Amino acid sequence: MSGDFPIVALAGVEIASTDPAAHAAFWRDVWGLAPVAHPGGAHFFAGTGSDPFILALLPGREPALRAVTFRCACEAAMADLAARAAAAGCKVADGPAPDSRPGGGRMIDIRGPHGCPIRLVCGDRPRQAAPPCIDRAERLAHVNINTRDVDGLAAFWREVLGFRLSDRSRQMAFLRCNADHHAVVLAEAPVEGLNHIAFLLPEWEGVMLASGRMRDHGFEIGWGVGRHGPGNNVFAYFVDPEGYVVEHTAEVLQVDDSYRVGGPEDWVWPPGRTDRWGIAPPKSAACKAAQIAIRFAG
Ligand SMILES: [Fe+2]
Repeated sequence: MSGDFPIVALAGVEIASTDPAAHAAFWRDVWGLAPVAHPGGAHFFAGTGSDPFILALLPGREPALRAVTFRCACEAAMADLAARAAAAGCKVADGPAPDSRPGGGRMIDIRGPHGCPIRLVCGDRPRQAAPPCIDRAERLAHVNINTRDVDGLAAFWREVLGFRLSDRSRQMAFLRCNADHHAVVLAEAPVEGLNHIAFLLPEWEGVMLASGRMRDHGFEIGWGVGRHGPGNNVFAYFVDPEGYVVEHTAEVLQVDDSYRVGGPEDWVWPPGRTDRWGIAPPKSAACKAAQIAIRFAG
């Protein structure tokens, strides 16, 4: 594993919530995250891992993606990325500035192409990790971003932010910033926005158990359970109470620079099949609709 990525991890996602108290109850009691802070009407949640938070719910009039936070290797790398983003035409906030969110550190906000709200952070303090729990998320696995221009946006993530392409299927580009096969996925869509957020469980049976917990609470599986092609991760998709598509996942492929980048011809299933195992039923209409319904805030 080469260690020269300027961004080293997907750290957190911040989303708007029209009913933060009810939404927070879902994320705590059903999805299974740990509340860590509740400042000014916002709700911050951690997984069992050491990220100070992985999800924030911020009060808002409508669901929207407010920020995707990535941890940089160091402050110099963060400043360099901000300069590169500015040179590429992105709006870059003043900074770096102290980060007041859980974990602290320093941060800077970037508006990526098509308005994607990207936050860079460095020097945030890890929290004391909890013991792994089979059906609780340890951390984020990936975010999937909709775009009309997959290859153009992939070029930005690679050339400006230092990600590497792991695979390109007919509809998606899979990009990595560490050994995980992907931390960011860009999906071809008729709109720009958030497609879904994936949370990493310790093993595939955890995906089954956490999916059962969702069904116990009245949330039907929108897609899955199955095993993806690119990344080889086991998945189950749901639509949360505010309309966000969220994924329980596990066993994402670990890669290094010896990984052969696959193309669309490598990721073709027999007719009717939508996963590697061939058992996932067709995606629900509600899940499909929700995957293109969330826009970028602001
Ligand atoms: Fe996913």
